[in-house]
Amino acid sequence: MDATDMGSDLKEVLISAEDMDRRLEELAAEIDRDYAGKEILLVGVLRGAVMVMADLSRKLHSPLQMDWMAVSSYGSGTKSSGVVRILKDLDQDVNGRHVLIVEDIIDSGLTLSWLQKNLLTRGAASVEIATAMRKPRAAKVDVDVAYVGFEIPDEFVVGYGLDYAEKYRHLPFVGTLAPHVYQ
Ligand code: IMP
Ligand code: MG
Repeated sequence: MDATDMGSDLKEVLISAEDMDRRLEELAAEIDRDYAGKEILLVGVLRGAVMVMADLSRKLHSPLQMDWMAVSSYGSGTKSSGVVRILKDLDQDVNGRHVLIVEDIIDSGLTLSWLQKNLLTRGAASVEIATAMRKPRAAKVDVDVAYVGFEIPDEFVVGYGLDYAEKYRHLPFVGTLAPHVYQ
């Protein structure tokens, strides 16, 4: 999918595919330094984090395993409900593992602050967070995010794994939607 396929639904490109790739390269280098001598359990949060998980993991040199969780805090709309439900739990035991949660975007931060605590209570040795994007609202929540790709404005974005009503996930860049799409 590209900008042409989006037609008038696309307002603007916020992060190009090239910029995302470059930034993930930097984050991967940082992560490799920080986890030297350790094995990482990457935990991708379905479904939005699929792209960043695929791209970030392939840039890492550290030994790692991957697992996935599906949680839900959003309906089909553009507002967080604040209620986190586990739709799919991890297959692996996190006890004693160095967990790095991989996220697409942090908005309210509710999903992640809940998830981080949840994994720590299961006995993980450490639980850090890597996110491709973060919105300003996230700063107000008590969640420590070790790796942030881009700080973005408080706008609803799509692409690079992120959807609006399950559409636009396969857009290679991150963009904003024209108001007519969700009005
Ligand atoms: P939070 O709990 O408010 O931080 O939001 C968590 C999840 O909501 C993210 O992992 C995304 O899946 C989704 N989300 C938040 N902001 C956006 C957006 O701008 N576009 C699409 N999905 C979003
Ligand atoms: Mg997500």
